Amino acid sequence: MVSTEYSGKRVIVTGCSSGVGRATAAALVNLGAEVVGMSRRAPDLDLANFHPVDLSSPDSVATAVSAIHQPIDALFNCAGAPPTATSLDLVKVNFLGTRMLTLGVLELMGPGAAIANVSSSVAGDWRAHLSRLREFTATKTFAEGVLWYTQHEEHAGHGYPFSKAALTTWTMEQSALLISRGIRINAVSPGAVQTPLLEASAQIFPAEYLSATEHPIGRRSDVEEQVGPLLFLNSDAASYVNGADLATDGGHSASRSLAGSQW
Ligand code: NAI
Repeated sequence: MVSTEYSGKRVIVTGCSSGVGRATAAALVNLGAEVVGMSRRAPDLDLANFHPVDLSSPDSVATAVSAIHQPIDALFNCAGAPPTATSLDLVKVNFLGTRMLTLGVLELMGPGAAIANVSSSVAGDWRAHLSRLREFTATKTFAEGVLWYTQHEEHAGHGYPFSKAALTTWTMEQSALLISRGIRINAVSPGAVQTPLLEASAQIFPAEYLSATEHPIGRRSDVEEQVGPLLFLNSDAASYVNGADLATDGGHSASRSLAGSQW
C-alpha cells in the first residue's frame, strides 16, 4: 500500500531550528513521528529530543551521534551554513560534517530506512565536475577532506556550490552502496527559498543572480513547499526512489538545461 505515514517512526532532522529544517521537523511532529532534532541552536518546537551539534566540528558531531542509541527510520539532512561563511566552513558544515553525521546515524538504520539530503540548485552542474568531486568525496575522514579542500580550493571554487555539488555526488555514490542494506538515500535541490539563509546570500551574490533563480515560476519558494518533497522521499511511498536528485526549484534547472546556459 502506498504510504507517506510517519506515525510511530523515529526520525532525525538536522538544521531544525530554522527555515526548511524547522518546517520539516514541525510537519513530522504533526504526523506523529518521534522527532530528534540536531542543530546549533535549540528550536522553538516541542521535539522528542534535541542534541546540539556544530557540523563544522568533528568532535561535536561525534558527541551528538553518540547520544543516540535507538533505531532511526529516517534522516533529514537540512542543516546548512549561509554562503557568507568562509569557503572552508561551508565545506565542513555542508559536506564533511553532514557526511560524518550520516555515517554515524547509518549504524542505527536498518532495511526500510531512508536519508534525504538538502543540496541546492547551485550544484546543478555537478556532473560536469565529476572527477574532481569524486576525488574529494573519496576522502575517508573529516580531516582528510579539510586537507583536500585546502590544497585544491583554487580549482574547486567557492565553498557553497562546491560543498553542495559534493553532497549531491556523494548521495549518488551512497545510493549504489546502501541499497544492498535496504537503505535509500536521495537529495532535493531547492532553488531560492525564503529563509534567513537566502537573506544572507543577498550579501554576496548579485541581485540579478538571485532573481534569475526565480525563473520561470516567477517567485521564491516558501519553506513549506520544500517540506512535501522531503517527506515523500523518506516515506514508504518512495520505496523504489533511490539516488534521485529532485529539483524543487520551480523549474529553474530544467529551463537552464534547455537554454544550455550558465548563470
Ligand atoms: P536557515 O538558515 O533558515 O537554516 C539553516 C539551519 O542549519 C539552521 O537550523 C542552522 O542552525 C543550521 N546550521 C547552520 N550552521 C550549522 C552548523 N555549523 N552546525 C549545525 N547546524 C547548523 O536556512 P535554510 O534556507 O532553511 O537552509 C536549509 C537547507 O537548504 C540548507 O542546507 C541550505 O543550504 C539549503 N538551501 C537553501 C536555499 C535557500 O534559498 N534558502 C536554496 C538551496 C538550498
